Amino acid sequence: MVKTLSRRSLIRGASALTAGGVLDLTLVNLAFGQGGAQPDFTFAYISDSHIQHVKGTKFVRNWDRGLKRAVAECNLLNPKPDFVVFGGDLAQLGKKEELDHGLELLSPLRYDVKYVLGEHDYYLDLGEYWADKISPHYYSWDHKGVHFITLNSIVTHDEWTNKWSSGEERMGVMAGLDDPRGSPFMVGAAQRQWLANDLAKIPKSTPVVVFSHSPLQKIFKNWNFWTDDAEEVQALLAPFDKVTVIYGHVHQIQYNQIGNISFHSVMATAWPWPYPESYSQAENYLPVITVPMNRADPFHERDATGWQFIDVQTGNLAINYSLPDNSPRRVAFNPETGMPEDSEFETRSIPPQKHF
Ligand SMILES: [Fe+2]
Ligand SMILES: [Fe+2]
Repeated sequence: MVKTLSRRSLIRGASALTAGGVLDLTLVNLAFGQGGAQPDFTFAYISDSHIQHVKGTKFVRNWDRGLKRAVAECNLLNPKPDFVVFGGDLAQLGKKEELDHGLELLSPLRYDVKYVLGEHDYYLDLGEYWADKISPHYYSWDHKGVHFITLNSIVTHDEWTNKWSSGEERMGVMAGLDDPRGSPFMVGAAQRQWLANDLAKIPKSTPVVVFSHSPLQKIFKNWNFWTDDAEEVQALLAPFDKVTVIYGHVHQIQYNQIGNISFHSVMATAWPWPYPESYSQAENYLPVITVPMNRADPFHERDATGWQFIDVQTGNLAINYSLPDNSPRRVAFNPETGMPEDSEFETRSIPPQKHF
């Protein structure tokens, strides 16, 4: 059964908030179809807020505003989400001030929050404060028949991690999108072993939803739109009937299908990144089925930060993106073709894309 939630049904009494604005969150609806044994439910997704400390009690206001708005909208959602996922990059430079302030901005949420670790949260102290105050770096849980897994996909080689004279220096390098001194992200052997053990406990028919910060696929290495051991992680997920990976980090709409795995990105509350091919002639592998968003208006503070809700039919997701001053987007899994598609947007002009 196709279950599409209208924006109106989701946002109750939100007209004041939506006027001229952006809703920076994702609502995911898991619908198991007519006669299914599992109850439908929803969850919301907020990501990449990049809360940035200036000095004293001052923080970059634009990034604060994006997160505040998402939290406010989330509390107005109808139906209410069962929980909220924060998709990583809560902080800009991993500072305690930034993480504390981010948590304070998230604190009005009336739901349980699940956290994904981003590189901007990690590389100052290697996630020590995060683990102490916020969340384990990776974990799994079951909810109404779905197995959820959160991975830390932004670790890298020990030699790189340990070579810096200070955490600040390391964080500064990894925080740059285009810094050639950076290092590729990965899930790593230890966590892959944990994942294999975790997956061994569930039937292959159980829908699996994985949250990561970086894409668990290879799109553009220079910006770490990339996870170096993506194929190994995909191989662990391959035996399951229905798998969806949701990731942040890229601050733009992307979607893909590799074997049994559907991939969807979520939007940032802070700012949009350009598509790699619009910025650089360097080799990139934007998935051939992804139709890029319109170019963001640099004079529009919140343009291309958007919001989206997602409905899932029998374990496959459809993401509905609502973008200020742009046409809404719906990227839905098509059971006939076996991949996510945006049938409405795909009829428009499609820029040339490289095949992966
Ligand atoms: Fe980010
Ligand atoms: Fe990131």
